[in-house]
Amino acid sequence: MADKRPIGIFDSGLGGLTVVKEIKKELPNEDIVYFGDTGRVPYGTRSVETIKKYAAEDEKFLLTHDVKLIIAACGTVSSVAGDVAETLPVPYFEVVSHACKAAVETTKNGKIGVIGTNATVKSGQHKAEILKLNPDMQVLSCSCPLFVPLVEEGWYSADDTVVTESVKRYLKPIIDFGADTLILGCTHYPVLSDAITKVFKGVTLINAGTAIADAVAEYLKQNGMENKDGGNSSFYVSDKPDFFKTQAAILLDEDIDDGKVQKVDISKI
Ligand code: DGL
Repeated sequence: MADKRPIGIFDSGLGGLTVVKEIKKELPNEDIVYFGDTGRVPYGTRSVETIKKYAAEDEKFLLTHDVKLIIAACGTVSSVAGDVAETLPVPYFEVVSHACKAAVETTKNGKIGVIGTNATVKSGQHKAEILKLNPDMQVLSCSCPLFVPLVEEGWYSADDTVVTESVKRYLKPIIDFGADTLILGCTHYPVLSDAITKVFKGVTLINAGTAIADAVAEYLKQNGMENKDGGNSSFYVSDKPDFFKTQAAILLDEDIDDGKVQKVDISKI
C-alpha cells in the first residue's frame, strides 16, 4: 500500500524548515507542502487566542492541498493550540512531546533546560510533559524572544557577536542551573545551534525536528501510508516569497526553483 498525498508542515515563518530538513533526510520519497506564515511572524509574542486562530487557518490551508497528515512545526502552536487540531480529519503531529521524550532519554544528570518563545515557556507544556515521563527530572525553562527575529533576519552565524551576545544573555540561567541537555523548544532555534554550543559548551541539544521525523516515519510505515516515489516540496508563504526562497535555500542547503515558493492570502482561505 502507498499514499501519495503530501505531508503538510507549517510554522510562523522559516523555523519549520528545520523540521522539513529532518523529514527530507528521513523520508526522501515523501512530497511536502510547507506553509510559513511570514506575514504574521512572530507567533510567540501573541495571545493564546490569536495563536489558535492562526493555527486553525494554517491547518485549513494545508487541508486544501489534500495532505495525509499535518505537522505543527512550531513549538508555540504545539504548546498552546493542540485543541484546535482535535477536529482535523488527518493525523496531527506536534513538536513538544517528542522533544521531551528525547531529552529524558538523553540527560545523564537529570537537569533539562528548555528554551522557547514567550508563549511556549508560559504554557509550561515542556515541563509538564517531562515530569509526566519522569517526576525526578529538574527542568528550567527560559524564553528567548529575540531569537526568532534574529533568524528571520538571517542573522544566525556563530561568528556574529550580536548573535553570541544574545545567546550568552538568554542562556546564562540555564548554564548556571547546570543542565546537560537543552530542548530547542522553538523550531527556529536549531538554526542557532552553532552559536548555542559555542557559548554553552558540552550541552546536548534536542532538535524537535529529528524526534518528529522518527515519529512520522514510524507512523507512515505502520499504517501503510508511505510514498515510494515522491520527493517534491512546494512552499507557500503569506509574505516576502523572494526573501523566504533565499533563506530556505541556505537552511535546506539546496536550490529552490523559481515558482516553488508562492504567496497566498491566508486570511481568504
Ligand atoms: N518556530 C516558532 C516556534 O517554534 C516560532 C514562533 C514565533 O513565530 O514566535 O515557536
